[in-house]
Amino acid sequence: MTDSRLTDQISQARSVVDERSEKLGRKLSYHVTTFGCQMNARDSEKLKGVLEESGFVYTDDELDADIVIFNTCTVRDNANQKLYGHLGSIGAVKRTRPDMIIGVCGCLAQEQSAREKLLTSYSFVDLIFGTHNLFEFPKLLVEVLTREKTTGKGHIISQIWDSTDRIVEDMPAKRNYSFKSGVNIMFGCNNFCSYCIVPYVRGRERSRSSEDIINEIERLAADGVKEIMLLGQNVNSYGRGLDEDITFAQLLEKVEAVCGIDRIRFMTSHPKDLSDDLIEVMSTSDKICRHIHLPLQSGSTGILKAMNRGYTKEQYIDLAQKIRERISDIAITTDIIVGFPGETDEDVDETIDVIEKVQFDGAFTFIYSKRTGTVAASMPCQVPKDVVKANFDRVLKSVQDMSVKRASLIEGRVMDVLVEDINRQDESLVTGRLSNNLNVHFPGDGSLIGQIIPVKLKQCKGFYYLGEREL
Ligand code: 5AD
Ligand code: SF4
Repeated sequence: MTDSRLTDQISQARSVVDERSEKLGRKLSYHVTTFGCQMNARDSEKLKGVLEESGFVYTDDELDADIVIFNTCTVRDNANQKLYGHLGSIGAVKRTRPDMIIGVCGCLAQEQSAREKLLTSYSFVDLIFGTHNLFEFPKLLVEVLTREKTTGKGHIISQIWDSTDRIVEDMPAKRNYSFKSGVNIMFGCNNFCSYCIVPYVRGRERSRSSEDIINEIERLAADGVKEIMLLGQNVNSYGRGLDEDITFAQLLEKVEAVCGIDRIRFMTSHPKDLSDDLIEVMSTSDKICRHIHLPLQSGSTGILKAMNRGYTKEQYIDLAQKIRERISDIAITTDIIVGFPGETDEDVDETIDVIEKVQFDGAFTFIYSKRTGTVAASMPCQVPKDVVKANFDRVLKSVQDMSVKRASLIEGRVMDVLVEDINRQDESLVTGRLSNNLNVHFPGDGSLIGQIIPVKLKQCKGFYYLGEREL
């Protein structure tokens, strides 16, 4: 769905911003602080797009900006705590600069208890909006900029939708990188894993039409983008509920046909929905990267059942082995939760057994975080903290040892690297990424950024490589 009002709203915001800038004799500045996943990173690019088109200029100093938007995450409690830390610092600044505008959006804003906390304990926040009405940001921006005249200074504008089936297509976006971009292919999640708050804050699953997706990718390719990351909470169920008859594997084939795109990634795959067709398309593709992120969560079939994951330990291992057999050089990474209610040391042994059998190339390991409103939050037998910590350390050691072992397998080879940045610690080096998602640092300068070049992988440093350009 396109929304022609967006352009009008952005030009209204622009005239207010221009007027203020003229009065102040300087441009108004913005900062967007992003927490959480790649979906949020992409949403933030849209917020930045709106702010830039409205006449704000970027500042990298959150505490110095005229408008700061916090795009939040609430998947684990530490994400909430991070936000409150930032709000504490910015609240102090706002006391000395009352004209500063502070907005909070994203997943935490969708959660009622967190929102109430914002309204009571952080009442200096000016604007709150959620994930379902992100596209309303231009309208809310006009409201907050003209608030004094309409609702009165100090009034918090809070607009949250409980759900939506709308997908608004034409938000402008300011990309963080010129050569790579995320592309949403679907929103929301229907899986209701028992520990997870995402279905409650991101709503029901809805896919974008393949035409809209391909049009966006063609525009990105024309603008110099070489790598795209197809984004969805569960990309393997792409297409369900659409009028057109299309699967994720078929969408990938269409994306593969877009000229100018050299690398295709996607995130996240749910093991229960991963089809043989997808493995087939990946195995014959020159563009789909040799990396799949396949969250395991637990290696214990009993815990997987309580988590409502829809597969057993054995089914996961078989799937991973099938992927490894059919797609040469593929890196498999995963997410693991330690400390789910009722988890025993033996359950954790099962998780470590899967790590060893599948040989994960990388894993994000999380301590279970109780999320209000989820099924797991009211389960008995929450695991004591010291037990969780000991088991977390065991899992972490296992995944780290395994990643180092896996990474070292390609030492000495020459592989293509997409150069992403100048190295932060050593400016004589550039940093890039292999198709399998490993980072490589090698001598070079900023002119290489955005190029795909062959690099000899000289020294494995555990989770990354030092290399040398192969001329
Ligand atoms: N506690 C800990 N980790 C969680 N994740 C999702 N919900 C929780 C929770 N309540 C993890 C899962 C998921 C990743 C994005 O975050 O591993 O794959
Ligand atoms: Fe959460 Fe499960 Fe949906 Fe992933 S698939 S977002 S873990 S409910």
